[in-house]
Amino acid sequence: MQKLVLFCVSVAFFARVQSALPPPCDSQIYCTGPILHQVQKARLFDDDKEFVDMKLRESPDVVLSAFQNLSSEFGTIPPAKLQEFLDMYFEKPGTEFEEWIPTDWHDNPKFLGGIADLQLRKWAEKIHQLWKSLGRKIRSDVKDQPELYSQIYTPHPVIVPGGRFRELYYWDSYWVINGLLLSEMTQTAHGMIQNFLYLINRYGFIPNGGRIYYERRSQPPFLTLMVESYYQATKDKEFLRAALAPLEREYQFWMQNRSVAVSANGTEYKLNRYYVEVDLPRPESYTDDLELAEGLSDEEKQQLWMDLKAGAESGWDFTSRWYIDSDGHNNNSTLGATRTSAIVPTDLNALLCLCEKTLASFHSILGDGDSAARYEEAAARRLQAIEAVLWDAERGAWFDFNLETNSSNVQFYPSNLAPVWAQCYSRSEMAEKAVQYLKKSGALRFPNGVPTSLRNSGQQWDYPNAWPPLQHMLIEGLSKLPSEEAQELAFDLAQRWIKTNWLAYTKYDAMFEKYDVEGDGKPGGGGEYEVQLGFGWTNGVALQLLDHYGANLTSGTGRVFASLLPPLVISAARMLH
Ligand SMILES: *[C@@H]1O[C@H](CO)[C@@H](O)[C@H](O)[C@H]1NC(C)=O
Ligand SMILES: *[C@@H]1O[C@H](CO)[C@@H](O)[C@H](O)[C@H]1NC(C)=O
Ligand SMILES: *[C@@H]1O[C@H](CO)[C@@H](O)[C@H](O)[C@H]1NC(C)=O
Ligand SMILES: *[C@@H]1O[C@H](CO)[C@@H](O)[C@H](O)[C@H]1NC(C)=O
Ligand SMILES: *[C@@H]1O[C@H](CO)[C@@H](O)[C@H](O)[C@H]1NC(C)=O
Ligand SMILES: *[C@@H]1O[C@H](CO)[C@@H](O)[C@H](O)[C@H]1NC(C)=O
Ligand SMILES: *[C@@H]1O[C@H](CO)[C@@H](O)[C@H](O)[C@H]1NC(C)=O
Repeated sequence: MQKLVLFCVSVAFFARVQSALPPPCDSQIYCTGPILHQVQKARLFDDDKEFVDMKLRESPDVVLSAFQNLSSEFGTIPPAKLQEFLDMYFEKPGTEFEEWIPTDWHDNPKFLGGIADLQLRKWAEKIHQLWKSLGRKIRSDVKDQPELYSQIYTPHPVIVPGGRFRELYYWDSYWVINGLLLSEMTQTAHGMIQNFLYLINRYGFIPNGGRIYYERRSQPPFLTLMVESYYQATKDKEFLRAALAPLEREYQFWMQNRSVAVSANGTEYKLNRYYVEVDLPRPESYTDDLELAEGLSDEEKQQLWMDLKAGAESGWDFTSRWYIDSDGHNNNSTLGATRTSAIVPTDLNALLCLCEKTLASFHSILGDGDSAARYEEAAARRLQAIEAVLWDAERGAWFDFNLETNSSNVQFYPSNLAPVWAQCYSRSEMAEKAVQYLKKSGALRFPNGVPTSLRNSGQQWDYPNAWPPLQHMLIEGLSKLPSEEAQELAFDLAQRWIKTNWLAYTKYDAMFEKYDVEGDGKPGGGGEYEVQLGFGWTNGVALQLLDHYGANLTSGTGRVFASLLPPLVISAARMLH
């Protein structure tokens, strides 16, 4: 009875906005309700993520009842009382992890021997060592008393990105796992993949990250490619067999819950988009979302909050790429113009095309020709859709499609070349045209990497920031093309990126989540939080580039020993294949 009353009070307290949609999660503390509302509004912490990462000291019922008592005493609770309440009922964040040093870490993985530049090789050793400081294991208490935590229990240890990101993240893990495989940490990589398979079995898809407030949104679906990387490293068919059913379930989720019909050339195509049906503020960025929505109608607020979550789901949170102005252009507006779900993204569709081809290959490895053919057909259908809706023959690249205006967004983003990376195009001339597009785009004039866009919006997924996964996809895509020009460009971009990462490392003794293309070794900035150190995907991408181009990359210090050490060059050449 008391519970029922509490529930009504808390709903009435919060629900100025009526919602027919589910909340971000079912917790009355971490995802909705008066505690979240008042604590975040009081701005007791610099970062809204702090509160929602705290562990409860008592059961949710007791904490809700104590808060209710305080509320009846004070109405709006004064900050000092609120702080007392937090001290009494919540622990500082980060307590759900045990220090964990990966048991498969060892100090001389083979790929290091392929790095000719001595400075770069020493640096690669340091990066390899960072896995030890980013390893985390969830305490068993999170499994036994999940109601006390926002952390989602997963059975195996993880490599976290670092900084404020105190939990596993979905798409980050693709580059982390590729790095771990180079570091010969197969077991750690295996455990991380098992966690994701576990999450699919629990949720039907993979949440954005390992917190309950992420449990109704995903992130770019890279698990199929993680499994592919692992399979290529181990050739473990039993592993592949066990992974296939959950991977197909995840694929179904994207096709059923994240697809949209698009008409082009008189034909209707099915493509994918980011789309989150939760129309409340993000718990971990609660006050930002409330403030941004001030002055809007209820309906506009709900739309904006859904689109902000879809932006988070895209991994690009946030960017002018997801803005739609009233005039249909996206070049003169702010975060409030975010309309992610009205945009059909090139990179998501290229990724899903690659997933379809990869799922087909898994089935064929396991001897199921019929299923393989089904996924080949899905990939062929998507290829047609991508070419009808996203390909622009005149400009020579693929552009996001705006469902509100039925037009393309022709601004530059590295994602405009994602189909090259996914090898998802029907004629080789398209990829070569895309190389020419890239050269003319203006995005190659920066010596420190390719920016995320050419627009300085103040958001972190825009100029002047450059992000490791985008550099990697661009470089890998170019490196797969037959032309010498594309190969040279790939190497050139790899050299720029390594130089930027290396210079920043020499200055700050740290790896960053993103870098600024305007500074020589300068971390990125902008967006909702301070730049973070660590950093999972940065380390993974740096190791992949150092592995792939180790014979030729330089730190710029002139100390290249390649010519003195022929065995290294041989080993690097071997590793390339
Ligand atoms: C809230 O107040 C009620 C009635 O005074 C009391 O029984 C209950 O123990 C209080 N709850 C907490 C958590 O202090
Ligand atoms: C996907 O959408 C269906 C309705 O079309 C819904 O029943 C299901 O819960 C959704 N799945 C997830 C994981 O959100
Ligand atoms: C925005 O883009 C439109 C169309 O490309 C152009 O006409 C306009 O001048 C641009 N505005 C700004 C502020 O760059
Ligand atoms: C850009 O937006 C501002 C404010 O919204 C407006 O005053 C200005 O005229 C716009 N500029 C262009 C070029 O559209
Ligand atoms: C558009 O349709 C015409 C006629 O059906 C076809 O020849 C052409 O290839 C289509 N174009 C695209 C981009 O799909
Ligand atoms: C966009 O295309 C759809 C489907 O063809 C159509 O229903 C809609 O009216 C179009 N919107 C605009 C703004 O042209
Ligand atoms: C490295 O340089 C050598 C000689 O300059 C060249 O033959 C080789 O193709 C280069 N490798 C890569 C990956 O660029």
